[in-house]
Amino acid sequence: MSHQTEMRAKFAQRVLADAEEVAQAAAEIIEAKARQAIARRGRFSIVLAGGRTPEATYKKLPADGPQWHAWEVYFGDERCLPRDHPDRNSRMVAAALTGRVPIPSNQVHEIPAEMGADSAALKYAALIGSVVFDLVVHGVGEDGHTASLFPQCVLDPDAVAVAVRDAPKPPPERVSLGLHALRNTRSALVIATGSRKTRAIEAWLEGHSGLPIERVCQDVNCTLLLDTAAAEVKSRHPDKNK
Ligand code: 6PG
Repeated sequence: MSHQTEMRAKFAQRVLADAEEVAQAAAEIIEAKARQAIARRGRFSIVLAGGRTPEATYKKLPADGPQWHAWEVYFGDERCLPRDHPDRNSRMVAAALTGRVPIPSNQVHEIPAEMGADSAALKYAALIGSVVFDLVVHGVGEDGHTASLFPQCVLDPDAVAVAVRDAPKPPPERVSLGLHALRNTRSALVIATGSRKTRAIEAWLEGHSGLPIERVCQDVNCTLLLDTAAAEVKSRHPDKNK
């Protein structure tokens, strides 16, 4: 269960013109959350998502902006590939963010997925323990997955990190934070662009979809940023929903 035991979780949704505006607005929200957390607790702990939509956001964070020395960066998921493989989320994040801003390297907590899914999941779960994050960033897959929690996975509500072996998005072997860790956050930011995401977003917002994106946002203060393409409604575009 989330640390927000009694408070009702807040939900906010904004629709922006295009992917560029979504990335800019998402970067501004991350900066604001960082400032707020650092002012209150002296630290900002963020979980970063993989994928192209989040990458565009990380690139927008200004190098002279937030107080980088106080950031603790975690990863929502990682692909089981060698550390220097171009498809690693850690490589993408290094190029888009952590390699160009002065976050101390010992505060960037990569998932050691090169060890293999089981060992890496155990190791990352031990590192995370009961950390309460300030912000978890989520991308969304066309099938409603987030991190490497896919609709066909059985989701254990108490899992901190899980080994994934048959992901439909390549590569099949991955490590993901589990439901417990992804919900153990003061806030979440979900970013989705493009019409291929519309169905998953609609199913989530209609409720009771059981999709991973819906489940990780349950009882969590969540902001959803969409572009107009991702926000198109079913009734106006029946052909997209066949
Ligand atoms: C990954 C992810 C994954 C991603 C979504 C959205 O490593 O593949 O963390 O959950 O965030 O699939 O990715 P896109 O923005 O590229 O569609």
